[in-house]
Amino acid sequence: MNKFNSFELRAQWFAFFKERGHSIIPSSSVIPENDPTVLFTTAGMHPLVPYLLGEKHPEGTRLANVQKCIRTGDIDEVGDATHLTFFEMLGNWSLGDYFKDDMIKWSYEFLTGTLGIPVRKLAVSVFEGDADAPKDGESADIWQKCGIPKDRIFFLPKKHNWWGPAGLTGPCGPDTEMFIDTGKDACGPECSPACSCGKYVEIWNDVFMQYNKNADGGFSLLKQKNVDTGMGLERTTAILNGASSAYDTDLFVPVIKKIEELSGKRYADKEYTRAFRIIADHVRTSVFMIGDPRGISPSNVDQGYILRRLIRRAIRYGRLIELSAGSLSELARAYVRQYEEVYPELTVNAERIYGELKAEEERFVRTLTIGLKEFEKVAAALGTGARIDGKTAFRLYDTFGFPIEMTEELALERGLTVDTKGFGEAYAEHQQKSQAGAEQKFKGGLADNGEATARLHTATHLLQAALRRVLGPEVAQRGSNITAERLRFDFSFGRKVEPAELAEAERLVNEAIKAGYPVTVAEMTVDEAKAQGATGLFESKYGESVKVYTMGTFSKEICGGPHADNTAELVSFKIQKEESSSAGVRRIKAVIG
Ligand code: ALA
Repeated sequence: MNKFNSFELRAQWFAFFKERGHSIIPSSSVIPENDPTVLFTTAGMHPLVPYLLGEKHPEGTRLANVQKCIRTGDIDEVGDATHLTFFEMLGNWSLGDYFKDDMIKWSYEFLTGTLGIPVRKLAVSVFEGDADAPKDGESADIWQKCGIPKDRIFFLPKKHNWWGPAGLTGPCGPDTEMFIDTGKDACGPECSPACSCGKYVEIWNDVFMQYNKNADGGFSLLKQKNVDTGMGLERTTAILNGASSAYDTDLFVPVIKKIEELSGKRYADKEYTRAFRIIADHVRTSVFMIGDPRGISPSNVDQGYILRRLIRRAIRYGRLIELSAGSLSELARAYVRQYEEVYPELTVNAERIYGELKAEEERFVRTLTIGLKEFEKVAAALGTGARIDGKTAFRLYDTFGFPIEMTEELALERGLTVDTKGFGEAYAEHQQKSQAGAEQKFKGGLADNGEATARLHTATHLLQAALRRVLGPEVAQRGSNITAERLRFDFSFGRKVEPAELAEAERLVNEAIKAGYPVTVAEMTVDEAKAQGATGLFESKYGESVKVYTMGTFSKEICGGPHADNTAELVSFKIQKEESSSAGVRRIKAVIG
């Protein structure tokens, strides 16, 4: 086999399909744009559904790419040799262009020629047929003509040899899958690529998408016959290099080394291997979630909740190997560097990635130790086999930030279970109560005003930073006044600010809002704040310790708060007026939202 590393494999894929008339298209976002039924992009075909259904693609009828994919159904399985929550899928498509004949020949050529996999190591499966679609003898014949012996071609049912749709309805069809025979003994006379004994490892899947699954569960023929294929980059890289898992390839080794450096533990030490893999996988997925052009932040709902679970699980496993606090952003740095050329969006959003990871780590670490002690108390009071009630699980969630899945995992380690239904009820009850509270506050205008003020206050920081960039460091705050509707900012400057300069400052603030910088706060001495280049009034009215608010690389300022959690909450920024305030002091009024 050719020992291509992951970079070489991507390059081989692109070259192979380019030579065969394909346009190379970029990876889409990991957050699907038009499909509210799924949280993440799970396959390369996902963003291409409209084109598989017949819409014209601007790049033509032959496409190929590498797609960033996230599958989070098996988070708890991560840590073994095969499960990953993020992976890259090498894919190619025919949109009503070539079909089985070309695709199967090319698959054979790529596997045995480009990758140099010996034919004797290959096995394939094809669809055996059922009431919805006929047996795919055609694909079997093409494989045989290519050189795959008959006894290495397995006919399997829909459960194994039908792919799609990605959501509930949409394009799908019979597929033919390619496997590497690891050389292990067959587990019995019935052993086939369908069984999970480990003899066969899937390497590529060619789907012949000519059907549409309808809302009533039936299948109809599509307007055109498509091909959709997918090859996992991580797994194939491992296979080509004879590695026992993707963690032992160039995709993970640099980060695993970094974890060894930061923790002083060894990946090869069996006691720690699982923790290393969980941390390496979860941080990588978090980096791609936060660093995506449609990047997300940790939260308690939807994608944000999955992200929070991943980060918090990585932190918990980090503790097991004594990884110091703040390490996750260090590891993220290694990933951003590693993917610099393939996924430049990670470099563009690097500060956002480090900031979000750091902020989430700070949020969780504060309560984790006490929470774990609390959990131990609960566990000790219950005997083995007992159930943790819903209210207790909710307390661990609400007070200590334990995602319910984490409580379940901890419980499992102690031979306990968790009443998740009871947890759901306690959660719903809490939601109702806080909803009522928020409404009451809103009536008094408090909640609303408080938030608006905090956001305008944050905008003031961005404005000051922007003015210093445009007009120079002589700009310093002379006064600030905020109402629920607008901010007013007075600053030292010797002349009228030109319209073009105002426009540039406004543009910079909007850029910072769009960047979605997390607003983080740290306490330090005035000297430390100065050393870090923070702006603010370094006067004696500040005590020894001051709060410094940071917004990405854009702004760092001494201040008492309160602030928005993220600059994105400001939505947009507009300067309404610039005027003189007094000699040498200018005044700007601006609004947000
Ligand atoms: N869409 C197919 C898969 O994910 C290629 O396996």
